Amino acid sequence: MKLTVAPFPGTRFRRTRRTSAIRALVQENVLSKKDLIWPLFLREGTNIKEEIPSMPGVFRHSVDRISEVASEAEQLGIAAVCLFPYTEIELKTKNCSEAWNPENLSNRATREIKANVHNLAVMTDVALDPYNIDGHDGYFRDGIIQNDETIKALVKQALSQAEAGTDIIGPSDMMDGRIGAIRQALEKNNFKDVCIMSYAAKYASAFYGPFRDAVGASGSLQGDKKTYQMNSSNTNEALRLIERDLMEGADMIMVKPGMPYLDICQRAKEDFGVPTFAYQVSGEYAMIQAAAQNQWIDGPNAILESLLAFKRAGCNGILTYFAPMVAKLLDN
Ligand code: PBG
Repeated sequence: MKLTVAPFPGTRFRRTRRTSAIRALVQENVLSKKDLIWPLFLREGTNIKEEIPSMPGVFRHSVDRISEVASEAEQLGIAAVCLFPYTEIELKTKNCSEAWNPENLSNRATREIKANVHNLAVMTDVALDPYNIDGHDGYFRDGIIQNDETIKALVKQALSQAEAGTDIIGPSDMMDGRIGAIRQALEKNNFKDVCIMSYAAKYASAFYGPFRDAVGASGSLQGDKKTYQMNSSNTNEALRLIERDLMEGADMIMVKPGMPYLDICQRAKEDFGVPTFAYQVSGEYAMIQAAAQNQWIDGPNAILESLLAFKRAGCNGILTYFAPMVAKLLDN
């Protein structure tokens, strides 16, 4: 697109900034409640709402409370929730079989929500880390993450989530070939309408720290995730991963983390024009919250500004722990 600017005083940009009504008329990008996906943490027990220390304002909920939280999301006009389990240490094993247990936290919560809340999409996470004694997203043996063996487990996990009624499966594991395997298995088992949102460009990031506390994976993780998550320095690889996952049957793609990777969001949207999402991850949340709580920044405005950036970059939506706060802010 060719942008034209008449020489001053033909153009005075301040004309269209003079009042809030005029500013609203010329606004190029809009953040709406339907852009929001709210990640929720689950735990065992009854009537529990426990705050995560490194994520002030974010809670783990017991499954008996989850419908209430989900209906709050629905009433706020949020589009979807995304479920992450905090798994008790006794249930973490080498083979991660809790991941496809029909009665695991994620599957029970999905059934609860689907039975009680009707205008809300449920997204569930496919990866082994919440269930893995080694803390990794895949099977770990002889110092190596075992790609192809892991895929078989991920397929079982995805099928158990489809069986429980999930709307969107979000593979966050970064094994090669998992999208194709999951798509084939879904088709074969007559889950033809289950969406896959691939964590296609997921970087090995220092911004996941608080999340690993939230799901109880910090203690168990040995080493790092650099053999499967991306190198922060790469762009072309991200685009190849996105194309690969689309070819294998992903309906939507995600870039993660968010704010440090806005360039990737923009290129993904420009190059492929597919539904594109960003994950404003736990460390991004923690930074903004910490500064806001110290009154070093204006929290509400910083939150809205951080999310509008994703819209400007071309994202269709954002996974953000700020979702309920933002929905309320947008109402005012
Ligand atoms: C792991 C997973 C992670 C997140 C979502 N799924 C962490 C990781 O890769 O170690 C991070 C989300 C966040 O930081 O908010 N499957």
